[in-house]
Amino acid sequence: MTAKIFHNDDTVTAPVITIDGPTASGKGTISRLLAERLGWEILDSGALYRLLGLKALQQNLPLDDEPALAQLALELDIRFSGSDTDEEIQVFLDNTNVSDEIRTEKSGAAASKVAALPQVRAALLDKQRAFRQPPGLIADGRDMGTVVFPDAQVKIFLTASAQERAKRRYNQLIEKGVSVRLSDLFEEIAERDKRDSNRSAAPLIAAEDAVELDTSEITAEQAALRILELYQNSINP
Ligand code: C5P
Repeated sequence: MTAKIFHNDDTVTAPVITIDGPTASGKGTISRLLAERLGWEILDSGALYRLLGLKALQQNLPLDDEPALAQLALELDIRFSGSDTDEEIQVFLDNTNVSDEIRTEKSGAAASKVAALPQVRAALLDKQRAFRQPPGLIADGRDMGTVVFPDAQVKIFLTASAQERAKRRYNQLIEKGVSVRLSDLFEEIAERDKRDSNRSAAPLIAAEDAVELDTSEITAEQAALRILELYQNSINP
């Protein structure tokens, strides 16, 4: 496979596949499968917003103090460790492993609040674009195809019913030993969807040139194969 690599002053543009979509639409699992197959890196952009949400909670910062949160975003001391094809990438904030803590619904809700602030999104742009390195990047998020990597080779927008996504998240949490109620998860997911879709800064919408893929009835493997096919077609039309 020949990846298109452009040299442009001192920036190198590696190929990118963007995987956008709502909570628990399968982005994480599908991104990992793709990264494994292609040998590419993954950007889990949701983790950046979750880290910021967590840090803000730790510092008791109001989740609507836009200038302070944007400054905090610029100063975030974060590290991702482990191969990007590991089942679980370990995430560190100020040298403390917060991999489990950022996955709680509390961090998720805080992430979705700080993510609604334009200055915060702007502050995280460079951090996200820095993940674009050869041989390529799988970028998982909400605005990867619309804002962060508008020139991506392939853009995917995943969907699945809120019911199905709540069930998936429920199974993931139960597997981890976290006890939750399905009905609470459903409500939280529906509320987060509403906030993510209705905000004015980078709302959750499919890029015009994105391919929509409904994962309610297909496995993550089937979705990943379809996306690989789209990528192959984009480099060998
Ligand atoms: O994907 P994940 O559920 O980890 O994302 C947590 C929250 O971060 C989302 O609900 C969304 O509000 C925000 N987010 C975002 N843009 C991204 C990724 C995540 O606004 N690219």
